[in-house]
Amino acid sequence: MSTLLGYHFKKPLVIAIDGPAGAGKSTTARALAAALSYLYLDTGALYRAMTWKIIQEKIDPDNLSEIASFCEDIDLSLTVTGKKTEVWVDGVNVTAFLRDPAVTKLSSRISALAPVRKKLLVIQQQVGEKGGIVAEGRDIGRVVFPDADLKFYFDADADVRGMRRCKDLKKQGIKTNISSTTQALKTRDFKDTSRKLSPLKKDDDAIVLDTTDLNPDEVLQAILKEVVRVGVSCPD
Ligand code: DC
Repeated sequence: MSTLLGYHFKKPLVIAIDGPAGAGKSTTARALAAALSYLYLDTGALYRAMTWKIIQEKIDPDNLSEIASFCEDIDLSLTVTGKKTEVWVDGVNVTAFLRDPAVTKLSSRISALAPVRKKLLVIQQQVGEKGGIVAEGRDIGRVVFPDADLKFYFDADADVRGMRRCKDLKKQGIKTNISSTTQALKTRDFKDTSRKLSPLKKDDDAIVLDTTDLNPDEVLQAILKEVVRVGVSCPD
């Protein structure tokens, strides 16, 4: 039993947050993990790291046997804390390269490949096996942690998501504008929701939160209410 936020929690929870890009998953997951002293797992960073390496190695994503042996050989590891997920490829920390627009653009295509998903599923489940984790992505509640104590599905109006993503990119010094960012985000949404393997889809037992008109603190407060509801009353 642990005491958090003034409540007694019977066990460290597994909290899954899924949803499209720009819905507020990362901001909330990071803040929630910090509030609970949990691990924050940004699963998109893993798909981005695979994509980054595929670009570096000039591997053809359509060459499935090359992709399969790439997945077998790649040395991918993670450092997960309450604040960030850092990814290491062949002993090099590649986290700083993962938001590169070329990586973002190709990541939906790479994440649709079976050997890539198989490889990353094992890694994600290992990180979360002891609980005490907030994991965010596209298939967390349905595939990675189907028995999660709490599942959320975040959504927001596409134009609002595009505006948020455009602001983020500008902060990172990446030149862009609202219409091209929104268009790219819609294209990625389409790929992520229509792929055959683990498409982005709301799980039946996920709590839906539309963040269109909410600021990050309002989202966090709404989520914390659910965490307290489930965490303090969950069975041993
Ligand atoms: O969350 P993100 O934008 O960093 O994710 C990058 C890509 O990775 C996204 O287009 C979809 C894919 N992804 C996925 O398929 N499954 C996840 N659990 C997380 C991300």
